[in-house]
Amino acid sequence: MDSTENVINAQNEGHLDNHDYEKGSPHLRHARLRGQVEDRLRQLVADAIARTGGCRVLEIGAGHGTFTQVLVDAGAQVTVTEASRASADHLSETYADDDRVEVVFDETGDSVLSREESWDLAVLISVVHHIPEYLPALEAIAGRLVEGGALFTVQDPLYYPRRSRLSHVASRGTYFAWRVGQGNLARGLGSRWRRLRGVYDDTNPSDLIEYHVVRQGCDEVAIAECLGALFEDVDVFTYWSTQSPLFQRMLENTSLRSDFGVAATRRLPA
Ligand SMILES: C[S@@+](CC[C@H](N)C(=O)[O-])C[C@H]1O[C@@H](n2cnc3c(N)ncnc32)[C@H](O)[C@@H]1O
Repeated sequence: MDSTENVINAQNEGHLDNHDYEKGSPHLRHARLRGQVEDRLRQLVADAIARTGGCRVLEIGAGHGTFTQVLVDAGAQVTVTEASRASADHLSETYADDDRVEVVFDETGDSVLSREESWDLAVLISVVHHIPEYLPALEAIAGRLVEGGALFTVQDPLYYPRRSRLSHVASRGTYFAWRVGQGNLARGLGSRWRRLRGVYDDTNPSDLIEYHVVRQGCDEVAIAECLGALFEDVDVFTYWSTQSPLFQRMLENTSLRSDFGVAATRRLPA
């Protein structure tokens, strides 16, 4: 089994029926971050509708559909994928009577791309860091977009080797402060110590699920270069994000940056 297959299996096993998507997710928990993501989605859908009269969205890794609803409310027709069977079932139940949403349980993480179908907008929220080979994956997703279409990603950790020491220390410190209140601290500390030494365990589910979070982050410059060849405009935006509500409020208006998003718009002709 290659690492992509292992990681996809880990998504399935790590996001079971009772999975709480909000708990460790700053972009879901903190109203300001969440609002910024929602505003960008609404704008992208509105742009597509203004351009073509409609907006077909491919949302990869939708979780429990928090942002699917935003897309639908903005007027989109959405294909959502999930690599977790339990989350796909949850989505199917939620949207059973809604023909604006099609749910795909994507066991391989990319089978939806082999369809003869194209979309106006692709959305990956807190998903790129779960994909081991994210550059070819983004290229393949862009390959399914119509000319003029857009690709939006958000809530992925900035590439660690490029980050300031202060931002690393702030991220680790604020994560730790939050983690202390979450239980299972001994296991968390063991994993953290191992990763700080650069040791990853491909049999440890948390190392597989949070693939790039526990390794080097995601390379926003490489992503911008990769998408720059396929889209006329590529906007990489960076921001501060942490689990603890207190430290989010304290640090979000400083110059510290931990995470990023990318809005690639105006897909060039293939
Ligand atoms: C951190 S959660 C984010 C969920 C949702 N987008 C949100 O922001 O609430 C990541 C989700 O992506 C799914 N996932 C990861 N890689 C995937 C892939 N290649 N295809 C489909 N789903 C994937 C996981 O199963 C998980 O539910």
